[in-house]
Parts: sequence; structure tokens; C-alpha cells
Amino acid sequence: MKNHSSHISLCIGLFAAAALLISCTTISTSQPKTLKAAYKHHFYVGVAINRTIATSSPVQADNVNRNMEQVNKDVAVVTEQFNQISPENDLKWQMIHPQPGPDGYNFGPADAYVNFGLSNKMYIVGHTLVWHGQTPSWVFQGTNLPPGMTNSPAPTPALAATTNAPGTNGFGGRRFGRGFGGFNMNGPHASREELLQRMHDHIATVVGRYKGKIKVWDVVNEALADGGTNILRTSPWEQIIGPDFIAKAFEYAHEADPDAILRYNDYSLENSAKRHKLITLIKSLQAQGVPVMAIGSQTHVSVTSPSFKEEDKVLTELETLGLPIHITELDVNSAQGGQRSNSGDVAANASTTQGGLVSNSDQRLADAYAGLFRAFKKHDKYVKVITLWGVNDGVSWRARGRPLLFDANDQPKPAFDAVIRVATGEQPKS
Ligand code: GLA
Repeated sequence: MKNHSSHISLCIGLFAAAALLISCTTISTSQPKTLKAAYKHHFYVGVAINRTIATSSPVQADNVNRNMEQVNKDVAVVTEQFNQISPENDLKWQMIHPQPGPDGYNFGPADAYVNFGLSNKMYIVGHTLVWHGQTPSWVFQGTNLPPGMTNSPAPTPALAATTNAPGTNGFGGRRFGRGFGGFNMNGPHASREELLQRMHDHIATVVGRYKGKIKVWDVVNEALADGGTNILRTSPWEQIIGPDFIAKAFEYAHEADPDAILRYNDYSLENSAKRHKLITLIKSLQAQGVPVMAIGSQTHVSVTSPSFKEEDKVLTELETLGLPIHITELDVNSAQGGQRSNSGDVAANASTTQGGLVSNSDQRLADAYAGLFRAFKKHDKYVKVITLWGVNDGVSWRARGRPLLFDANDQPKPAFDAVIRVATGEQPKS
């Protein structure tokens, strides 16, 4: 009897081992081939799309130059791989509301963007409502000027030479910071009331138009100061309205679409000083009852940093705010010049894409992405959206730093495989 039963358990044991072997083989051969499938139990995996993709045509926009065949391939990768989209440029104030007044809107490209997302059943993000960059000067100009004063903007600082360099999106000169993005704050400007009114009208119109379709909004982008002890950077918003411009923007957006998730978005949160400014800012907004509902961490990083451990710490600290975390503009710079900059600043970007690639760049990029996705996965209780900032290296603002998962021909790079392997828990082959 004893012999018989041990024979049975041996058989069961062998059978179980064989089944396990078969099932292991099955897992590895049927491993998901797409990012959205690989991470479906964790978070959305999305991508910023440009106008060529949104309109499926080789239009000249966003400083990219793609022929029809390339656009078709770009669209195919976007729809196959991703389940969320963000607009690279077409919802920024400069694009959607270039002129004053109710007739000053240009909705065509933004409508195409939203329709692209709807027809492909994607989670649609809006970017961005209030920012110092890519905002036309008229927004800050006054209407009742003292006699003899004009509203003419100050000359744009000498950034033009770098703005159209390959690898940038051509908007560096419109950044606030050096010369207020072309707006002369020493001249006449709007009053607080005027600017609040314009902000209100813009937000009500744009958010209202896409109510129920755009699910998440970047309400305020990059309000934090990079250096020094000031929490907020100096910008026309902050100078003319005062620090409560942030609270007002969130209130107006909430009023326009009470169901939308409202996000505060910024860069270099890997930097501990800047991260602590963010935490201070968000806690103060929370204490005032401002409807800030998610943290957007742009995450324009490099192959040098952050490591898994560093990103783990970034997320652990951000989680103390108790809000969902969205990684909003992920790319990983492989250019030698970009190894110490995690900035989202377009003006600074030209230099960070200099110097050729780091050695062994494909492997280093794969390792960097694997570390980041390990951290995102570990923190998936809070991390709800990951957005790559561009579909491939050919259309990236950092094209020379080859920062994305697909090359300019839409072929997956080793970094793509590494990201998929993190999802399945498979160890790297090397
Ligand atoms: C910032 C902005 C983005 C984009 C990038 C550079 O991060 O939030 O919209 O302009 O800079 O492309």
C-alpha cells in the first residue's frame, strides 16, 4: 500500500513538473508583443503624437519631416503598441488659440488629435492649459494702454539659431525664462483681472469643447523654479496674477469638466531640491482645497540617471502626496551631452543632444529603460500612466540623443525588448 501510494505521488510529481515545464515554455513563447498588453494590469502605456500622426498625413508641423510611408508606419506603431495619447503641440495655447477673441481659435489640428484617440479607443490626455512656453504674447498684453505706449513684444532673445536644429521641435525661442518668451514685462501688460479673464475663457472653451473625451488635463505646466529658494519661477502668469494663478487655473478647469483628472506637470523631479519644491507646492494647494488630482512627472532623463534605486526613491517620495502619479513625457537621452541634464527645457536641449552617442548606447538605453520600468511596476499602486514623448527616434525633440524605444524606421530597439521583459518578469538574456 505504502509503495503504491508513493508510486502515485511520484507520478503526480512528475506530471506536475512536466506541466510546469510546458507552461513555462508557453509563457515565454506567448510573451506579449506590445507594450499595452504587457502592462495592461499595471498602467496605461501611451505616447505623444505629432500632427502627421493625428492627421495621418505628411503635413509640415512639429518640425518633423516624414513622408507618407513613414507616417503610415508611425501610425501603425502608435495604434498597435499604445493605449493612451498626448498631443505633442497642438493643444498648447500658441497652436489652439493663436489670436485674441472668440474667433482666435484654431481647433482643426486639436480636433484631429482627439478624433484619432476616439477612433482608436485610446485614453486621451490634454496638454497643456497654462504654461509660460508656447503662449502668444497677446495673452499678457494690456488693452487700455497709457497714451504713447505700445504692446509690441520685446525682441525674442538669440535662441533662434538653435530652435530649428535637427532634434528640437523648433519652439525654443518661445520659452519663457530668457526674455519672457518674447514678452516684455517691463512694458505695458494686462492687469490681473484681464489675465484671469483670458485664462478663464481659454480654459472654459478648450476644456469645454473636449469635455468627456479628454480624460486628463495638464492644467499647469512647469511653474516651479529650477534653482534658488523660490518655489515658483518668475513668469508672466506669476508676475501679473500672483502665485494664485495655479489655484485659479485648476478651479476653472474643474468648473469646465468636473470629471476630468487635473494634473500638475513638471520636469526634473528626479532632482531632490526640485522634488521638494513640488511637494511643498502640492501640499499647499491641497490645504487650500484646490482640485489638483494627479502629479505629472515629465521624466526627460538620460542613460546615466536615474537608476532603478533613484527612481524608486523619487516615486516613494512623490507618493506621500497621496495622488496618482503619471509619467508624462518619458524619454532617455543617449547623447554624451545629455548625461547630466534631466531638463524639459527646449532651449537647453540643443546642447544636451550634442557630442554623439555614449558608447554601447543600445545596451545602456535598454538597461536604463529596464530600471525605470521596474520602478514604475513596483509603484503601480500610484503610477497609472506612462507616456513616451514621441513614437520613435526620428520624430523626437531629442532625435540626436536616440531616446525612444523604436528607431527612426519604426523598428523596436533592444530597449523595447527590455521593457517587455520587465513586464513578464523575465531575466535579461545577457
Ligand atoms: C516640455 C513640454 C512639452 C515639450 C517638451 C519638449 O517638457 O511640457 O510639451 O514641449 O518640453 O519637447
